[in-house]
Amino acid sequence: MSFPKISKRLLCAASFAQKGDFVADIGTDHAYLPIYLYTKGIIRGAVVSDINEGPIRRAKENILGFSCENAVFPILSDGLYRIDQYSPDTVFILGMGGELIVNIISSAEWVKEKKPKLVLQPMTHKELLRSYLFENGFEITDETLVEDGKIYQIIVAKYTGRLTKATCLELFFGKINLQARTELLLSAMKREADVISARLLGKSKAGLDGGDDTALLNQILEYMGE
Ligand SMILES: C[S@@+](CC[C@H](N)C(=O)[O-])C[C@H]1O[C@@H](n2cnc3c(N)ncnc32)[C@H](O)[C@@H]1O
Repeated sequence: MSFPKISKRLLCAASFAQKGDFVADIGTDHAYLPIYLYTKGIIRGAVVSDINEGPIRRAKENILGFSCENAVFPILSDGLYRIDQYSPDTVFILGMGGELIVNIISSAEWVKEKKPKLVLQPMTHKELLRSYLFENGFEITDETLVEDGKIYQIIVAKYTGRLTKATCLELFFGKINLQARTELLLSAMKREADVISARLLGKSKAGLDGGDDTALLNQILEYMGE
């Protein structure tokens, strides 16, 4: 059997699936992630969804091309709607903005009842995503960073009902990542510090207050020991 070649980012997310899982891939586009996991013998099957017809057509072509049609089921759907009937063990929501990921999770009450593992990879606003998770009873059980052109954060969460408190630095970079203190985390922080510094300069020239940016920059510099 041939395997699809998937990006380092998707490969990293895929590593959070467990042997024998039935998974859901929301906003699948090409369906490469579940096809990879199935053809490698890691998962027993998948439901893949997308809100747009083009991506679902692409997913169907790839599913047929890799002979996965008996195990990987494509549906046209908004977010997690209609996904609960498949009772997935693990739900992937990758490559979307953090706010959209929050909208998708918060619109699906069944996620709190069935408690699937959520593997999330926000393209933007990871701090809003973590804040939503912590304030709504989801615990982050694992997280990591992966470099694939840029540095991406992958967050693994599960509903437990327990609320979590977090600092601004933890919302942006993750408690587990901060504990691990990898070189990649320090690179990500350096990049974020450069972006914030540029923004603060702009604010200062415009006579504006630095606001939350000043506090975050100070926390980043303190963590980095600068
Ligand atoms: C940038 S692609 C990411 C594809 C893939 N998940 C990845 O990470 O490589 C985002 C996909 O999400 C889909 N999408 C956007 N909003 C969605 C929603 N509410 N429900 C399901 N799919 C959605 C888009 O149609 C698009 O195919």
